[in-house]
Formats: sequence, structure tokens, C-alpha cells
Amino acid sequence: MPRILVLHGPNLNLLGTREPEIYGSTTLDDINEMIAERAAEAGIETAFYQSNHEGDLVDAIQQANHKFDFIIFNAAAFTHYSIAIRDAIAAIDVPVIEVHISNIHQREEFRHTSVLAPVAMGQICGLGVESYLAALEAIIYKLNRAE
Ligand code: DQA
Repeated sequence: MPRILVLHGPNLNLLGTREPEIYGSTTLDDINEMIAERAAEAGIETAFYQSNHEGDLVDAIQQANHKFDFIIFNAAAFTHYSIAIRDAIAAIDVPVIEVHISNIHQREEFRHTSVLAPVAMGQICGLGVESYLAALEAIIYKLNRAE
């Protein structure tokens, strides 16, 4: 059974109450549940991890190597400056899809840069929590085509 790791970076544990005008009112548990449900329907196993700490995310990425088929990753603020996370993604064989709830390109200048994008398989942003689901649909499509 294919396996997907869903990784969430700093402050995403506060979704639901954090700047709802930008991120909406859906909680992280709701997002994980939506992903798990759709993935189960498609015969995909899921695992979820959120951390506010850069090193913990680096560890999670390293440990995912050879254990998962894809990673869906919202690195939150680390997206814009964490070379350690970028290097961890580059060091593993698992393709990573970068996601963001908001459209980072429409926001402050410092959010326009993703240091992860050059080593990610692709980037999906601005669709609200559906950014995660769009990443999952892309993975389902790829897995079906690979069969
Ligand atoms: C975010 C966008 C980032 O710029 C921000 O730091 C976040 C969330 C998003 O999902 O829109 O924490 O990754």
C-alpha cells in the first residue's frame, strides 16, 4: 500500500484560530482528517506530523526516506529561509510536494521566495486548505498512472 507523510511546520497547530482572515477556520485536525479520509478511499496509508522546531522537521524528513512514497509538506515560515530543511529534502529520495494555504506570491515580499521550491517536486498555494487536497489528488493520479 502506498504511504504518504503529511508534514506541517510552525504555527500550523494554531489553525482555526490563527489569522482566520488569511488561513480560514479549519483546524489542523480537520485538515488531517480530510486527507486521511480521501487517501483511505484511494487505498493510501497516511501519517501526520506537526512541529514548531526546525530540527524536528529535519529529523522527520530524514526518517521518511525509503518509508514513504510522497511527502506533502507545508513548511510554513521555514519555507522562506530554512536551508537545513531544503538540504534535508534534497538528501532524500522521496518526492516532496510543497503546499501553502495562502497565496504566498500575493503576500509580503519576504513570502515570495521559497528556498524549498527548487528541491520540491512542485508547489501548490493559495487554494485554502484545498491546497493539501490538490496535492493529494496529484499523488493519487500519479500512483494510478504508475500501476
Ligand atoms: C503558509 C504561508 C507562510 O508564509 C506562513 O509563514 C505560514 C503558512 C501557508 O500555509 O499559507 O505559516 O505556509
